[in-house]
Amino acid sequence: VSGLVVAMDGPSGSGKSSASRGVARALGLRYLDTGAMYRAVTWWMLQRGVDLEDPAAIAARSAEPTLTMTTDPDAPGVAVDGVDVNGPIRGAEVTGAVSAVSAVPEVRRRLVALQREIIASSLPGGGIVVEGRDIGTVVAPDAPVKIYLTASADARALRRTAELEGTSVEAQRAAMARRDTLDSTRKADPLAKAADAVELDTTPLDLDEVIAEVLRIVKERV
Ligand code: C5P
Repeated sequence: VSGLVVAMDGPSGSGKSSASRGVARALGLRYLDTGAMYRAVTWWMLQRGVDLEDPAAIAARSAEPTLTMTTDPDAPGVAVDGVDVNGPIRGAEVTGAVSAVSAVPEVRRRLVALQREIIASSLPGGGIVVEGRDIGTVVAPDAPVKIYLTASADARALRRTAELEGTSVEAQRAAMARRDTLDSTRKADPLAKAADAVELDTTPLDLDEVIAEVLRIVKERV
């Protein structure tokens, strides 16, 4: 089976989602947003009233929610137990809680297994662009193309503020710094650049330029 896997990692606000979708579209590949999976499980835990300050409580219920991912780059999505949660998983409540849930090894083990299944099933159709924090290091360490996107804290906070309503650049900068610290200091599969990933600083680039640069790297590597 021949198929391409493009791993796109980096902190929040680095431009991963838009760039990953654009690259998938340009190459005719599927697109998987692994952050949406951690967000969906977090939404489910909040709905059930699970105490998110108790990792053992999260672990105990981690096998219950069933996720269904849609990997069309033009209409990506996630459903939990058949419920479309694409709206609520972007809300402040889930965003503030997701790092506590994604740090729990039982949650990660289950979602990484599902991510690998989705990747494998995409290969006969050409392949997939996968975005997250641990794709190049843990989920798909053999991916032929690995990109690690970064951007200055100011650029990232500005982008997020433009995407969301009713927030300030300062509030976003603080919220993102908190989430990045939690994501990169956790024991289980922390946010990290794979040794063989190409680092791309998107601070001075617009979306089309980021996509063009990733496509150039893809061509070089495959
Ligand atoms: O990318 P996004 O901001 O939607 O990710 C939400 C959260 O999900 C991250 O802050 C991180 O805690 C978690 N995550 C993860 N591993 C991934 C993708 C996301 O731990 N591969």
